[in-house]
Amino acid sequence: MQEFLKQVDPEIYGLARQELERQRNGLELIPSENFASLAVMQAQGSVLTNKYSEGYPGKRYYGGNQFIDECETLAINRAKKIFHADHANVQPHSGSQANMAAYFALLNPGDKIMGLNLSHGGHLTHGSQVNFSGKLYKVVPYNVHPKTHLLDFDEIEKLAVQEKPRLIVAGFTAYPRQVDFKRFAEIAQKVGAYFMVDMAHIAGLIAGGAHPQPFPYADVVTSTTHKTLRGPRGAFILCKKEFQEKIDKAVFPGIQGGPFDHVIAAKAVCFKEAMQPEFAQYAKKVVENAKALAESLVEEGMTLVSGGTDTHLIVVDLTSLKITGKEAQNALDEVGITVNKNTIPYDPLSPFVTSGIRLGTPALTTRGMGKSQMKEIGKMISEICRSPNDSAVKERVRKQVAEMTRQFPLYPELG
Ligand SMILES: Cc1ncc(COP(=O)(O)O)c(C=O)c1O
Repeated sequence: MQEFLKQVDPEIYGLARQELERQRNGLELIPSENFASLAVMQAQGSVLTNKYSEGYPGKRYYGGNQFIDECETLAINRAKKIFHADHANVQPHSGSQANMAAYFALLNPGDKIMGLNLSHGGHLTHGSQVNFSGKLYKVVPYNVHPKTHLLDFDEIEKLAVQEKPRLIVAGFTAYPRQVDFKRFAEIAQKVGAYFMVDMAHIAGLIAGGAHPQPFPYADVVTSTTHKTLRGPRGAFILCKKEFQEKIDKAVFPGIQGGPFDHVIAAKAVCFKEAMQPEFAQYAKKVVENAKALAESLVEEGMTLVSGGTDTHLIVVDLTSLKITGKEAQNALDEVGITVNKNTIPYDPLSPFVTSGIRLGTPALTTRGMGKSQMKEIGKMISEICRSPNDSAVKERVRKQVAEMTRQFPLYPELG
């Protein structure tokens, strides 16, 4: 198939090949990234991209949707089964749009929402002032505990009782611990709030049985498909039966037009993959690898937010090393280790600089790496963060990265 791209647009073809080589030759530790299967990518790169299908299966505004209906129905049924949901909407184009649709379904502009502070590990769409969520709704952020960096449920409950939000969001981009959905639901119930879970980061762990399920506790659950779930770039919403109609109307015609049918088909493929026993093994290994990486970093004397991880994700507090998140990200980039700078709870530095970096194991686990590689990677990260300007150290680590990536070929079928 790529032959056509090469002929028609050699520039884009060349860039895509370079990106493939970048992915192959580096250690990808950004926790929100993964390597989708060739099956997922083939569904996404198929003729399904040609169709218009505004509406839902059996209720479209265009003719010729018999096969599209079947693709979408397969995706819906698989998502419902994996996550024990009454209803699924697989049309949201992205995690942000899924969250926007969920809010549109449940709230009126000006209503109050409670979400985790962005700088403590929440997401922009959970009430940041630069995002639609902070502009359309009144936001009461909750924080993690200043010492333990864990969710402080007594504080969350106190705040909820005092503020009476219409909706509480539990869902995080940089929280390394398991989430107690039941406790959140009890608080929401006590104050008469809707309880929404944004499981974008941990959906794959949940699907594989490595993290508890949000249902029956949540009213609505949003998620991306491209992180631990290892599907195409996209999202979906799950909900209890009573919210079904509102959620569907909020997605279309509320905030979106024609669905991306090729992406929905790829979502169906990723759901099928996530239902296989091998995926449960994968999810378990992602967490084991994260724990091994965390242990290695701690052995190297590094400080971790909350002391460790129960998930796929680690936040390193670099304060004692006298290096910022931005400097660490750049130095690691130079040796082929890709991470992202990240604020730590109560960070004195701005989100552009930060005192931390965020690491995750979903992508390297997909490549087949295990605990011994994680141990070695922990050492490499520590060395670079301690000597970001030492060219001999950098050269040595660069060679180690090259050797390790060679042992775990990525997309060998792509030539
Ligand atoms: C918890 C959470 N929700 C929503 C999103 C938004 O997803 P997208 O980037 O697809 O809009 C993210 C992305 O990082 C996320 O981490």
